Amino acid sequence: MTNTIPGGLLVKPVPELCTGCHPQRVGANEHPIGMKPSMEIPQELPLDSQGQVTCITCHSPHGKEGHPDMLRKLPAEICQSCHNT
Ligand code: HEC
Ligand code: HEC
Ligand code: HEC
Repeated sequence: MTNTIPGGLLVKPVPELCTGCHPQRVGANEHPIGMKPSMEIPQELPLDSQGQVTCITCHSPHGKEGHPDMLRKLPAEICQSCHNT
């Protein structure tokens, strides 16, 4: 079962908001965003309201999990939770 992020009260769409302060996290320096996954996505990694990968699919805006880089899962586990190769 996938999970989606509700629209919310943000002043800008998430990727624009995040990259406004983190301009280096685009293109080759970061995982791509904005695509509909071909694979099953775990519940803990929510997609945007369009069902696409976004910055906060992997990052928790408030870092509440306490993982490095405010990731929603441990660095050693996050890639394999969507990619099983
Ligand atoms: C108003 C500016 C601002 C916005 C907007 C912003 N950030 Fe940040 N972010 C910062 C600053 C400042 C730091 C701390 C310095 C650094 O690591 O660059 C930081 C740190 C981080 C870190 C590293 C945390 C760590 O543990 O080292 C991540 C990951 C991150 N931000 C992701 C995001 C994401 C995802 C968004 C969008 C939801 C976002 N940021 C929006 C300013 C911002
Ligand atoms: C598929 C998962 C994934 C997505 C999507 C993603 N990130 Fe990340 N991000 C990571 C991982 C893993 C790291 C830690 C390893 C690294 O630095 O590349 C990271 C690191 C970061 C950092 C910390 C860099 C530092 O120097 O400490 C920032 C800031 C960040 N991402 C912002 C973003 C923004 C902005 C977006 C959306 C444009 C985004 N991320 C999308 C997985 C993701
Ligand atoms: C939330 C699920 C998710 C997570 C977590 C995730 N990915 Fe992906 N990744 C995707 C999707 C979706 C695509 C687009 C291709 C597809 O749908 O199969 C993709 C594509 C890629 C690609 C191909 C990029 C391209 O330009 O074609 C690479 C390489 C990749 N991911 C590596 C990683 C690595 C390394 C991590 C861990 C830091 C990671 N992914 C974490 C969902 C994820």
